[in-house]
This record gives sequence, structure tokens and C-alpha cells, in this order.
Amino acid sequence: MDAREMKKKAAEAALSHVEDGMRLGIGTGSTAEEFVRLLAERVADGLQVQGVPTSERTARLCLELGIPLRSLGELPELDLTIDGADEVDPQLRLIKGGGGALLREKIVAAASARMIVIADETKVVETLGSFPLPIEVNPFGLTATRIAVERVASRLGLSGQITLRQSGEDVFTTDGGHHILDASFGRIPDAEALAGKLYLIPGVVEHGLFINLASFAIIAGDTGARTIKAQ
Ligand code: 5RP
Repeated sequence: MDAREMKKKAAEAALSHVEDGMRLGIGTGSTAEEFVRLLAERVADGLQVQGVPTSERTARLCLELGIPLRSLGELPELDLTIDGADEVDPQLRLIKGGGGALLREKIVAAASARMIVIADETKVVETLGSFPLPIEVNPFGLTATRIAVERVASRLGLSGQITLRQSGEDVFTTDGGHHILDASFGRIPDAEALAGKLYLIPGVVEHGLFINLASFAIIAGDTGARTIKAQ
């Protein structure tokens, strides 16, 4: 099974949790897009849902495929969010933000009664941190914020390159008008401690550690899909 087929398999399994009338948070990224395409087929067959997209990119795809959308302002409480992840650990902690949508993704997930993560086996890790941690920062004082992140990390025994995400020739800008620092720490043994400390830095808008947000993850591999549940 190739990567796309695995993503589709996870998305298919997640679709079985979507019920008529649901207010649905809709994630960002290539796995979430597989979900959007399958959801659109169900909507065309008569399924009634109202979606809240986690990015402009997802919003465009949903509109193109005929999925009815609302803003989070209109629907501040959601039944279910389905989204991808860059890393998933056995405790269901995640790294997200590879697609740059972490802020809206976290706000939408936190506004949802349940969050289902869809991913393929390549995303499952023992310890988070091989994937560079995306940290969304305000453009003002960018260098000062980067130095503060380095200091906080160093106090927790973490080190590694922290790079400003680019998009071609330009600095990458999120839907919220912020930038992203990608922190290559390699291993993050105490994700909770790092998450808490990053929030204390004024220029940090949000970080890609998703802790206690996912209800379960559907992980697709060559032999089918398995579930990782919150312990
Ligand atoms: C976007 C995300 C994505 O969910 C994450 O990057 C996974 O993407 P993909 O399904 O393309 O591997 O967090 O901000």
C-alpha cells in the first residue's frame, strides 16, 4: 500500500464516526484532505454536516467539493474534529503544524467534544521530537523570541537548530499572519514541561505540541488500520 492509500484508509475509518447533523472540525494537510474528499462524497449523497475548517487551504477544498462551512464564531462548540498529525506517541501526544495550521487546528480541536487523529504508521514514534517542533511566533521581536525559545529548551536539556520556516523565497506566514520557528530537538522526553514553558514566552503564539486533545488515533498501515487510545 502506498502512502496515499494508507492516508485514505485512515480517513475512511474516521468517516464511520461522522453522524448526520454533526458540527465537524476539519483538519489540514494531505491526510485531512483525503478525509475531505470522502466526506464530500457522503455529503453529495445527503449527509448533513456543518464543517469548521482549520485553515484557508482546507476551506477552499471544502467549498470546491460542496461541504457546507461555518466559522468557529458561528459554531463555537463542535461535536468532532478529524485531523492529521506529524507525530503521534503511545500516550496520544502529538506534534502538529507541519502544514503551518497549528494555531487554528488547536483552537478547533479544543472547541470539540472529541478529536480523532488520522495518520499512517510512519507518524508513530516512541518519543516525540524527530519531527521539528513548529512554534508559531509573532513577527515582532522574532529574534528575541527565538533566543528565548533556545533558553527555555536548554534549561530542559534540549538543543538543536531552530529555523525560521520559509515558503520559497519568502518567510512563511500563517493564516493568522504569524511566522513559524521549526525546532529540531531530536527528542522531547518531557513534552508537558516544554509545552508549559513555551507558553510563558510572550512572542510565542502557539506551539505544535498537542497534549490531552486527541480522543484516539486511527493509524493505517500495510495490514489495515489500528487505534491508539488515550491511556
Ligand atoms: C498541518 C498539520 C497536519 O495535520 C500535519 O502536518 C500532517 O500532515 P500530512 O497529513 O500532510 O502528513 O498539522 O498544520
